[in-house]
Amino acid sequence: MVPALLTWFGRSARILPWREAQGVRRDPYRVWLSEIMLQQTTVPHAAPYFAAFTSRWPTVAALAAARDEDVMQAWAGLGYYARARNLLKCAREVAARGAFPESETELRTLPGIGPYTAGAVAALAFGERTPAVDGNAERVFARLLALKEDWAAAKKRIALLARELVPADRPGAFAEALMDLGATVCTPKKPNCAVCPLTALCAARAEGDPEHYPLKPAKAARPVRYGRAYVLRRTGHVWLLRRAPSGLLGGMLALPSSDWREAREGCEPPLGAAWERLGEVRHVFTHFNLHLEVLAAETTDAGLPEGFWVSADDLTGLPSVFAKAVALAGLSARRKR
Ligand code: ADE
Repeated sequence: MVPALLTWFGRSARILPWREAQGVRRDPYRVWLSEIMLQQTTVPHAAPYFAAFTSRWPTVAALAAARDEDVMQAWAGLGYYARARNLLKCAREVAARGAFPESETELRTLPGIGPYTAGAVAALAFGERTPAVDGNAERVFARLLALKEDWAAAKKRIALLARELVPADRPGAFAEALMDLGATVCTPKKPNCAVCPLTALCAARAEGDPEHYPLKPAKAARPVRYGRAYVLRRTGHVWLLRRAPSGLLGGMLALPSSDWREAREGCEPPLGAAWERLGEVRHVFTHFNLHLEVLAAETTDAGLPEGFWVSADDLTGLPSVFAKAVALAGLSARRKR
């Protein structure tokens, strides 16, 4: 299986900004940064952020020396902001040590680096014989073996098998070949078995319905939460605040808003301002769907929650949920890329 996969990868590897030509030693900083960005984020969405980060902070030492607010603002729109906070912590720890540690085991001790990322950095940057099995690779194995046990047990089996299969001479290529096969051929819907290098070995294909795998339990529906966000405007400026450092959207710029609750009642607008209802934005968080009513007012500063005025022409750095809200007010929170 491994030779067929690697031959296919030699022909079909995606060209991505964090990849080097074959045979070129990879910079652990770029490998690590891309792997953190690609957790929970698609390749096309992460790519411009990777370019922006590496041009602004070309080394781990440069990132370690950055101001927290600048990094959080540059991360805005990538979501899962605990990743950005850990990214900075990790960069500072690595800069203090002088370099990234080179083994999977030591990488695991750094902030924000779990088993997958440690394996990926060790294999891709340092050539250690470690596996890096992401969701794409798991799907490939689940189909190849037509795994019928429950998904938690199947994932354990896949992890063990992948560790055995990693070729000592090309661990990084093995990891990225599985990712690419899962992302481009062995896709969740309508896998393209006609071009798959493993089709002759694939048990799910032999059974006739590869899409049937992986057998994952149905996800529980996300509950809905409701809230209101306030676009307070005065002479070309908007009132923003910085959220508390930890918790949801921790450390990020934000519009003032009510609590987000199970029912709409109880989040009445503050102040005596003349509120105009602009509409509602919806946003998906990990544990709930948010329905956020957006209200706007031209206001004096009476009763404003703690914050600061920001020019309405420079609202970059807002997380997506608030970017959607300011868009309803005809303002943009996106840097033109
Ligand atoms: N997803 C996570 N890591 C990746 C990588 N190195 N290449 C492509 N997709 C990925």
